Amino acid sequence: GTVVLAYSGGLDTSCILVWLKEEGYDVITFLANIGQEEDFDAAKKKAESLGAKKVFIEDLRAEFVEEFIWPSVQASAIYEDRYLLGTSVARPCIARRQIQIARQEGAQYVSHGATGKGNDQIRFELTCYALYPEVKIIAPWRIPEFYNRFVGRKDLMEYAKKHGIPVPVTPKAPWSMDANLMHISYESGILENPKSHAPADLYLMTKSPEDAPNSPDVLEIEFKKGVCLSVYISSSHVVGLFSPLVQLGGRHGVGRIDIVENRFIGMKSRGIYETPGGTILYHAHLDIETFTLDREVRRIKQGLGVKFAEMLYNGFWYSPECEFVRHCIDKSQESVDGKVQLSVFKGQVYILGRESPKSLYNEELVSMDVQGDYDPCDASGFIKINAVRPIGGRRVSGSARVL
Ligand code: ARG
Ligand code: SIN
Repeated sequence: GTVVLAYSGGLDTSCILVWLKEEGYDVITFLANIGQEEDFDAAKKKAESLGAKKVFIEDLRAEFVEEFIWPSVQASAIYEDRYLLGTSVARPCIARRQIQIARQEGAQYVSHGATGKGNDQIRFELTCYALYPEVKIIAPWRIPEFYNRFVGRKDLMEYAKKHGIPVPVTPKAPWSMDANLMHISYESGILENPKSHAPADLYLMTKSPEDAPNSPDVLEIEFKKGVCLSVYISSSHVVGLFSPLVQLGGRHGVGRIDIVENRFIGMKSRGIYETPGGTILYHAHLDIETFTLDREVRRIKQGLGVKFAEMLYNGFWYSPECEFVRHCIDKSQESVDGKVQLSVFKGQVYILGRESPKSLYNEELVSMDVQGDYDPCDASGFIKINAVRPIGGRRVSGSARVL
């Protein structure tokens, strides 16, 4: 049979490629460009030299931003109050294209290099099953003949040498990384001890806030229906919507977190993330949303956002419940238009002001200086009624006369 392998160009998936061939499969490799630093030409040559029947390098950056990152920003998607889901949101985007290739090439199998203990295996495979229910999945790290043969990196290196797989010349960082245009995540290896601190040179996307510029950058982000429409930095319009925010946030050390999270599979894991652009957008969007959204709609939408984050983390992007929630969130964003001014400084995002044609803010109504058509006397009754707390059937408050 033919298998489409999600190939990274690294040691693990190169060994998987050769191993699949040994097992008798025709292997097609697929490498997605989702904005990670990568020598795509070198990866293509490497896959070809290792005997891939066909090599696909797919630039998914635009669809990743438009179809996956924007809905996550609209939802204020955040997992366990801190993680902006940069890895989670990339998985359905990658797996969707892998499935398109499998169908187009008539392949019955897909394969990936995710471990048997993580979230990624679930995200990849739930997407594959949702979009191609008959597909067969080969997950080598869950196959005893594979994982008993490759117990450590040493075994992979030996196998590589034996099969003419180029072995990495630079020593591997003592942790695992996952990078895309939105974020980099770091986990496992020396990070598995939750109390050991990350070394300063771990971070590749952001400067340390201590080394960040001593003066802020001021920017303006314009939203239309909850989606970023344009970005002005120091009043000049910049080209591109997401990458300038990533650059700027990175320069100022924005969006670093070090957390212990709950994996879907049950265990807790320690992860370090840097999400410079996503963090700026998260704050800016939250601000314009509160400015323009009805209070009660906002409350319901907030709950849906929490559900959405959970579904995204757990790999259910392509599910009836997630499609329903995305639809509701999209509907909630109809009036989320306007501009937010903010400054970015020493790892922080400071909101400075906002304006919107759809604003629900009534300056006259809220003003301390203007009476308007609001009668303060009405507030007395409102407060008294809210103070009603029957205890043992007796009305104990709200009865005192407010003078
Ligand atoms: N724990 C994060 C998630 O589940 C990141 C997983 C991938 N990270 C990695 N370093 N391989 O979304
Ligand atoms: C992996 O296990 O392959 C990476 C970590 C994860 O998916 O949670």
